[in-house]
Amino acid sequence: PAVDSPTTNVLHDRAIAAYLGLAIGDALGATVEFLTPREIVEQHGEHRDIVGGGWLRLRKGRVTDDTEMSLALGRSILSSGGVNAIAAAQAFSDWMRTKPVDIGNTVRRGISHFRQTGVAEVPLHEYDAGNGACMRTLPIALYTLGADLATITAAHCTQAHVTHHNLVSDAGTLAVIQMVQIGLRGGTQADLQVIAEALVAADERYRFDRRRMENPGGYIVETLRAVFQALFATDDFETALIDVVNRGGDADTTGAILGMIAGAFYGLDAIPKRWLTALDKDTAGACREQALALIDAAPYL
Ligand code: AR6
Ligand code: MN
Repeated sequence: PAVDSPTTNVLHDRAIAAYLGLAIGDALGATVEFLTPREIVEQHGEHRDIVGGGWLRLRKGRVTDDTEMSLALGRSILSSGGVNAIAAAQAFSDWMRTKPVDIGNTVRRGISHFRQTGVAEVPLHEYDAGNGACMRTLPIALYTLGADLATITAAHCTQAHVTHHNLVSDAGTLAVIQMVQIGLRGGTQADLQVIAEALVAADERYRFDRRRMENPGGYIVETLRAVFQALFATDDFETALIDVVNRGGDADTTGAILGMIAGAFYGLDAIPKRWLTALDKDTAGACREQALALIDAAPYL
């Protein structure tokens, strides 16, 4: 592809920013998950700080399943030497055993299916269009950087179909991966827009230039419409993330997905210090370490 080849240092910086962006978006959004924009204004004014709380009563700086499942997937890639369905499913199952603070219904069903059958792929299902496969896809974007589209698609579907086997989810998640990779390689907002427009051209449901998406639900179409609107209406990491989480709804996941794209795109220096220091230390360390390890292990670079 016609993109520049950033130095290893720049790539490392952007990969770390993507991973910390994911975790920060998750931690920031979780406070206002399931609130309406109005309720957010009443309770927080503009929500702009990582303070914990929310319906999950989180400790300040704590993340949820979006970040935890990403870390589990990344560990499975690093320890099994690639993107493997069984290794990913086992990692998700091990994670579910840790009694996570939150877990999606489709995620739970897919992991249970693996436990009962040993098969690490659920059947094609129209209602598997929740955002649970997309929210954890960052390790795929890092590990397949430089690969051709068929290789990226195969790796992405392998991990996604452990729990979500759905064409809408697959298409949206692939677009997110491509956007993260454009960010990692130093692309422009216009480059990101090309990906979003191609997704809309392939599936009208993703059209995001009409009504403002408030209260996005867990349906990936609503999630990505909110993410794209916030991403393209703003010019920096902080404003973009504040925009998306203040729409309420599934705010930890819109925050996580916007955070990974905007982190890769704007880089580590663009992430506000107050968010970096508020993030749980162990989580931040794990995100940094895994971002570097996945880039260093990436076989297509
Ligand atoms: N059309 C409309 N809505 C749909 C469709 C469809 N085809 N398919 C699914 N939905 P859930 P997940 C809606 O719980 O993906 C975590 O806590 C469906 O009605 O299955 O397993 C994360 O933070 C439901 O409202 O999610 C995420 O928020 C939603 O999509 C979430 O769980 C999927 O909900 C991700 O996990
Ligand atoms: Mn969520």
